[in-house]
Amino acid sequence: MPKDTLTITDNRTGKTYEVPIENGCIRTHALRQIKASDEDFGLMGYDPAFLNTANCRSAITYIDGDKGILEYRGYPIEQLAEKSSFLEVAYLLLNGELPTPKELEQFIHLVTHHTYVHENIKTFMDGFRYDAHPMSMLASTVAALSGFYPDAKNTKDEQSRRIQITRLIAKLPTIAAFSFRHSMGLPYIYPDNDLSYVANFLAMIRRIGTATYRVHPTLERALDLLFILHADHEQNCSTTSVRTVGSSEVDPYSAVSAGIGALYGPLHGGANEAVLRMLREIGHVSKIPDFIKAVKSGEGEKKLMGFGHRVYKSYDPRAKVIKRVADEVFEITGKNPLLDIALELERIALQDEYFVKRKLYPNVDFYSGLIYEAMGFPVEMFPVLFAIPRTVGWCAQWEEMVKDPEQKIARPRQIYTGSKRREYVPMDKRAAK
Ligand code: SDX
Repeated sequence: MPKDTLTITDNRTGKTYEVPIENGCIRTHALRQIKASDEDFGLMGYDPAFLNTANCRSAITYIDGDKGILEYRGYPIEQLAEKSSFLEVAYLLLNGELPTPKELEQFIHLVTHHTYVHENIKTFMDGFRYDAHPMSMLASTVAALSGFYPDAKNTKDEQSRRIQITRLIAKLPTIAAFSFRHSMGLPYIYPDNDLSYVANFLAMIRRIGTATYRVHPTLERALDLLFILHADHEQNCSTTSVRTVGSSEVDPYSAVSAGIGALYGPLHGGANEAVLRMLREIGHVSKIPDFIKAVKSGEGEKKLMGFGHRVYKSYDPRAKVIKRVADEVFEITGKNPLLDIALELERIALQDEYFVKRKLYPNVDFYSGLIYEAMGFPVEMFPVLFAIPRTVGWCAQWEEMVKDPEQKIARPRQIYTGSKRREYVPMDKRAAK
């Protein structure tokens, strides 16, 4: 019967080592026993950008990149997108099970009654330049919440963790809307507890000169569905940032603000903004061949934004759902003229050897921006629309890390490539370079 072990022979010494295989992994720490001499530190694993490193055990989200599978707590994303709601999915991600009607009602009530921010937050946000990027305002203001809730430091206390998580889920739309209103030079609109999570957010964004705000049900449902699709995605760059910062036992506001910073990058959540800019730069379907040629030649390090994924080497299942949502939204808003360019770009890329060989398919960001633009959001708000739902995933992953007995403060090692020891050189002895 084959054993679940790896036998390693160190050819420097002829010694062999047996290392257990668990869950398709070996513990990299097991390599430290492999030494060329008694003074030797022992071997480490070297894996820049963690391409092949599991940094945790998690029960929250499962992805199969080859089969294009995404499941939250075991439920397929396609079923949740069709049958669930964002706050029900938030409950599922945080608690591991779908809520009963009573549990969902209580959760919605809790979130609804924590949407307000301290009035000083408005003063804090007024300090930003009028043209500050909303993601910059979001990251800074979420970090500032840490100063308003000093009890959030009690990360070992479950009750404290849960109230902070509720505050983060509830206040992100408020701070996001305030960021938008600040950049438009418009007065802030306070949350309206009579509206749903999504309708409340849209009202805080859109309401001008009226006491009430009516959102089209199709647009409300579309944004709720987009929030479901963006809620979590296992150990992506921003979640890894939240887990890493959170591992120092800092409060969750500081950890989540680190996640917002990571998501802001154009290779991550900033890609939906970059896709729109790319489609506008292409400008017409006739220009696509030249653009594709520039991407393939590496000219100016151009990438086909919204394409490719570290894990998905097939079509991102979320992109399939988003494409369907786009049709429903465009029924109401009118078709986004950039859609034809996006569809033709996808058609050409999926036939082109360069992209096929590299298994580059549309990801979650390729079509989402077209919907956001059709709904009237400026491109700068696109990554903010990613950060709002992803806050649920970040909080669920953060709490799982806090409760994981195997986790401790993250502190990787390095391969040192700098100067050997050398003596200090007095100024008068230093030769001009
Ligand atoms: C998100 O991790 C997650 O789960 C993220 C996310 C989530 O929900 O949290 O799914 C959300 O961030 C989606 C990804 C959004 N980013 C983009 O759309 C930006 C464009 N995509 C690329 O930058 C890239 O595909 C990444 C960053 C997404 C993944 O890059 P990898 O895995 O590091 O792959 P790579 O850069 O090593 O690329 C492998 C090859 C390279 O070519 P060669 O050096 O082998 O010749 O593919 C090429 C790359 O040049 N390539 C692309 C490309 N993506 C990769 N070439 C052109 N256009 C692209 N988009």
